Amino acid sequence: MSVPPPSDPPWVSCSALAARLREAGCVFAEDEAELMLSAAGTAAELAAMAERRATGLPLEHVLGRAEFCGMRMVVEPGVFVPRRRTEFLVRQAAAVTRPGSLVVDLCCGSGALGAALAAAVAREHPPHEQGSGAAGAAGAAGAAGAVELHAADIDPAAVRCARRNVAAAGGRVHEGDLFAALPAVLRGRVDVLLANVPYVPTDSLGLLPAEARDHEPVIALDGGADGLDVLRRVAAEVRHWLAPGGRLLVETSEDQVEAAARVLERGGLTVRTARREEPAATVVTGRRNASRDGRT
Ligand SMILES: C[S@@+](CC[C@H](N)C(=O)[O-])C[C@H]1O[C@@H](n2cnc3c(N)ncnc32)[C@H](O)[C@@H]1O
Repeated sequence: MSVPPPSDPPWVSCSALAARLREAGCVFAEDEAELMLSAAGTAAELAAMAERRATGLPLEHVLGRAEFCGMRMVVEPGVFVPRRRTEFLVRQAAAVTRPGSLVVDLCCGSGALGAALAAAVAREHPPHEQGSGAAGAAGAAGAAGAVELHAADIDPAAVRCARRNVAAAGGRVHEGDLFAALPAVLRGRVDVLLANVPYVPTDSLGLLPAEARDHEPVIALDGGADGLDVLRRVAAEVRHWLAPGGRLLVETSEDQVEAAARVLERGGLTVRTARREEPAATVVTGRRNASRDGRT
């Protein structure tokens, strides 16, 4: 009979690890155990992962990655974990993004949205449809050149993480406050602007699951008194950055959708709302008039 070395944790089997995670309160203990077993290189690493997860760290921070739009995104500690519901925002954006479009992922966090959109465009528009220099193979590896991608965030940790995720798409990541982070040459040229801004009303922050409350930065979550403060700032400037006919796409909660739509209308955009039931997601799209309106 082989005896494990003393440093080995007692939960090296999937079922033992799942039992440990269940005991710590993880609802999807079996699934999480499988993911940890596939990610850990050594028994010691597995033990450290199990302990970090047992203290309440989000699974994605424990693994260092998240699944998003069928891709594996790097998610570093302290960076907002991209949510599966936000895949709907990327899908809405993919429907209006063409090869060569100028795409900006504002408030990019891990950069998952921009990276996934670039990959979707590469997948949906094979090489013969694209101009020279555009790659068309499926997935992140084929995303380079499918769109011109810029991402930006105010948080240096997010910027570092996003650089790793958008690299395959040949994207650039800028650090700074909203549009101030972007190169001025992008003004009036952006075809698709993704902005999953913080939208939780300040008073509701305490109602978030502990994983978000305790392990994601407040700046990634807090949208001010009604949750729309950052969106109002984006809407106030966006028409100077969008190309004629360009679109801003934002995610909102169902409670906020009408107010968010009014915010975009006040920003001079024509608004449309799309909803999905499972998982529930709401996206508001604002389009700049297709003819130059003299406001850029
Ligand atoms: C809700 S998270 C979304 C992250 C990412 N777009 C996603 O969906 O996974 C909001 C992000 O906005 C960033 N942020 C908050 N205020 C900002 C500002 N004034 N300028 C730029 N980024 C900001 C945060 O650092 C955070 O990464």
